[in-house]
Amino acid sequence: MGVLKDTGAIEYSKGLEGVIAALSSISAIDGNEGKLIYRGIPIEMLAKYSSYEETAYLLLYGDLPTREELDEFSSQMRELRILPKKVEDCVKELPPNPHPMDILKVAVAHAGLYDPDQYRCCREGVMRKVIRIIAQIPTIIAYYHRARTGQEIVPPDQNLGHAANFLYMLHGKKPDEEEARIFDIALILHAEHGLNASTFAAMVTASTLSDINSAIVSAIGALKGPLHGGANERVLKMLDEIGSPDKAEEYVLNALKEKRRIMGFGHRVYKTYDPRARILKEYAEYLSDKYNDRKYISIGEKIEEIMIRELGNKGIFPNVDFYSGIVYQFLGIPRDLFTPVFAMARSVGWAAHVCEYTQNNRIFRPRAYYTGPDYVEYVPIENRR
Ligand SMILES: CC(C)(COP(=O)(O)OP(=O)(O)OC[C@H]1O[C@@H](n2cnc3c(N)ncnc32)[C@H](O)[C@@H]1OP(=O)(O)O)[C@@H](O)C(=O)NCCC(=O)NCCS
Repeated sequence: MGVLKDTGAIEYSKGLEGVIAALSSISAIDGNEGKLIYRGIPIEMLAKYSSYEETAYLLLYGDLPTREELDEFSSQMRELRILPKKVEDCVKELPPNPHPMDILKVAVAHAGLYDPDQYRCCREGVMRKVIRIIAQIPTIIAYYHRARTGQEIVPPDQNLGHAANFLYMLHGKKPDEEEARIFDIALILHAEHGLNASTFAAMVTASTLSDINSAIVSAIGALKGPLHGGANERVLKMLDEIGSPDKAEEYVLNALKEKRRIMGFGHRVYKTYDPRARILKEYAEYLSDKYNDRKYISIGEKIEEIMIRELGNKGIFPNVDFYSGIVYQFLGIPRDLFTPVFAMARSVGWAAHVCEYTQNNRIFRPRAYYTGPDYVEYVPIENRR
């Protein structure tokens, strides 16, 4: 039965750890040095100087835009924010109880039905589809939140940038410049991260030559899980459970003894401090001081100290999800929207990888190493016990 069991010289790698599944020029991570670059540019520089729109352009097209290119791209994003009426109605009528990530899956799938470029395969048509879905996701999230809380929806403001407009649609009032900028930076930091589980899910779907909305729906489903994007929401839940910094030691040591994971720590690639977490921590600190509310940051810092002491030698450090929740909390973003906000930012990375991979496409089709029996006699049902 060699045919069933043959793996030749191919190695098995649980969770595909270390497996190179694609060539890509979009981003690179140095997991030992804690470095992340988008198209060669360090994430710290983008966080300092760029905007989400500019970073999105960089990731999608490969280079920083000129002023004219950025203006054109930004106005295209603004125009495409508006949902088709049928999608808006659908979003408003979806039930208030499911997790918003499930709502996002439904709404993105639904939006695909009304995409005027649905069947276009030319580069221009594909890019329009991509930009449309990136622009629509924030509107979907904000409309759903307003509707489920019995508030009037707030249509997009074409004068506001991507980050500021989302906060405006969510809260019904324009954010101050500083808050909009901090949110913009958080979106830049979440925009792309190589072949993580959700990006890979999008690529697998797209590699069958399915459509972009189907690929994004696959990615949203993968991002939802607590081992991936769902961790940020759980971090805040944990901070609440702990309640104060002096209780952190007992909580963390108990969790580790019981082999429970501390959310917001550890990473498949980073074996040191995640550079995105470092930047987000600064803003979590800043906002805690600004609002004179250090409850969460002081528990967070205590957990970080204990985790690095206990597990730093295993390469376990804070990841992007550990401090993002504290930042979002101060920006007034409801907890169950933390992961949808991650999806809103990451939609660019998903789309960039889908576009890059499908330009030189090959369907993904790994194999499993068969561990079952070689031959089993078929037993008629009446003879089975
Ligand atoms: C991100 C994550 C899924 C990476 O998983 P992975 O690469 O498969 O790593 P492993 O599950 O093999 O973990 C390696 C070791 O570190 C430990 N570890 C990893 N993350 C841990 C965490 N958050 N808390 C406690 N221990 C952790 C594991 O128990 C394992 O220990 P062992 O060797 O004694 O069995 C994992 O670190 C995790 O579950 N983190 C918490 C969820 C999270 O924050 N996700 C967001 C990622 S951006």
